[in-house]
Amino acid sequence: MKEERAPSSRFDLILRGGTVFDGTGAEPFVADVGVRGERIVAIGDLSSASAPCVLEVAGLCVTPGFIDIHTHSDISVLYNPQQTSALAQGVTTQVVGNCGITMGLITEEPIFSYERRWLAPHGVRVTWEGRLERFHERVLEQGVATNIIPQVGHGTLRKRVMGMERRAPTAGESARMQELIEQAAEDGVWGFSTGLEYAPGSYASTEEIIALAKTAARCGLFYSTHLRDEGDHLVEAVEEALRIGWEAGIPVQLSHHKADGERNWGAVQKTLRMVEEARAQGLDVMLDQYPYDAYLTSLLTGILPDWVTEGGPDAVVERLQSPALREQIKREILARHPDWDAPAHWQRVVVATARNNRHLQGKSIWQLARERGCHPLDAVMDVLIEEHTFVSAARFTMSEEDVQTVLKHPLTSIGSDAISTAPLGKMSLDRVHPRTYGTFPRVLGRYVRELRLLSLAEAVHKMTGLPAHRLGLRERGVLREGAIADITVFHPLTVQDRSTFEEPHQLPMGIEYVLVAGRIALERGVPTGVLAGRVLRRQEA
Ligand code: ZN
Ligand code: CU
Repeated sequence: MKEERAPSSRFDLILRGGTVFDGTGAEPFVADVGVRGERIVAIGDLSSASAPCVLEVAGLCVTPGFIDIHTHSDISVLYNPQQTSALAQGVTTQVVGNCGITMGLITEEPIFSYERRWLAPHGVRVTWEGRLERFHERVLEQGVATNIIPQVGHGTLRKRVMGMERRAPTAGESARMQELIEQAAEDGVWGFSTGLEYAPGSYASTEEIIALAKTAARCGLFYSTHLRDEGDHLVEAVEEALRIGWEAGIPVQLSHHKADGERNWGAVQKTLRMVEEARAQGLDVMLDQYPYDAYLTSLLTGILPDWVTEGGPDAVVERLQSPALREQIKREILARHPDWDAPAHWQRVVVATARNNRHLQGKSIWQLARERGCHPLDAVMDVLIEEHTFVSAARFTMSEEDVQTVLKHPLTSIGSDAISTAPLGKMSLDRVHPRTYGTFPRVLGRYVRELRLLSLAEAVHKMTGLPAHRLGLRERGVLREGAIADITVFHPLTVQDRSTFEEPHQLPMGIEYVLVAGRIALERGVPTGVLAGRVLRRQEA
């Protein structure tokens, strides 16, 4: 950083000589960018101007700050205000509340014990009583490094109103959920999210979601969905999402799009065609993705039959401890997946975070079954008991070709699906998915520079202008005079992810500067401690 004396400067900061990608997908151009206060005030030749702070960025790419359209960072925002893993990737705005889960809507009631287990080790107490507005106040009181875009999640709403009951809502319960959506909309949310593969979202019929999505549509929200099935019934699940979009009259965002399981590889070709056809007929549907061929979620998701999850963790553990029910569960699972009797599948399922038994982290279910001399499904059920169901697993069951097919598609934005973290303290003990640290640099390094799957301008668009368009963000996502100065600067030849499944807590390389609202939040790859982020309310941004 070079200090220049200029008492009457028009600018507080100038980015000098960078290659500007404006986020629209247009070809880049070399220009200076002048910032005053929180806004970009000039883009062009500012060689005769000076500013108290001048960043020499010739040879570097200057882009809008990245918008991570799919995160779960509402979980970590209160114990990790620096949001290090997000900021270090060049992310300046995170959409939270995805997959039906909204931390700002949980309460101290026992029904939310599972959610509180995310917070308790970091000393966060639920003081906001399920009011999003109060949650956001608390976030702002302590500060946050990136902007936060909130959503209201169906799973959390359903738990609030119906507990973990596996049945349809009564008319009164449905009305209560609609009221909560309206209240969340007043509190500034942008989207209504579902996680139809997770309990209790999985207990909901399509009709239940349509009724709620109609309310969300009236409030001006979009519908983001973790589909009911990302494997054997992916196509039907996309059909369901599109039907919800049509019948509720609401824009649809398909979250972390993928085809899970070898026998389903290639199905994304068909689902992308379905999306294109729906768009051609007038439905506003888009999707997002993280650039990895493995996913990570709760160990029980996609393995245990739905009925086993009813009632929440205590009830699940009790069922798994009953020898008779265990046999029934195994029979049911193997009837659906005959190949799960063999090792191949279980070698691809690897325990990620297991807080009670850290020594299990990184072991495949197949390894555990061999060590314990039991069937892999018994190993799964035992680990679920030992961790009181609070255990995650990585699944190496996607295809690289599909990852590339989805990434290339012009409607695909980039979304990490991460809970932002830091390589510090207790946070560093969890085996997180490398997407948490690597998503954006990996697209720029591996898929743009190495594989040439996308041009740099296209990739930047997928991280900025495209998600901004989905959200209806007016002042961010595009570099133009008058916009908020959320800006990312990276080196096109060195930008790269370093996080791996074995050693996830590694910051990427090549992200040089990040500005949030005109303030330098990351300098030469190092967070400065500046907390210039805000919770963006839909009515105001
Ligand atoms: Zn999800
Ligand atoms: Cu998610």
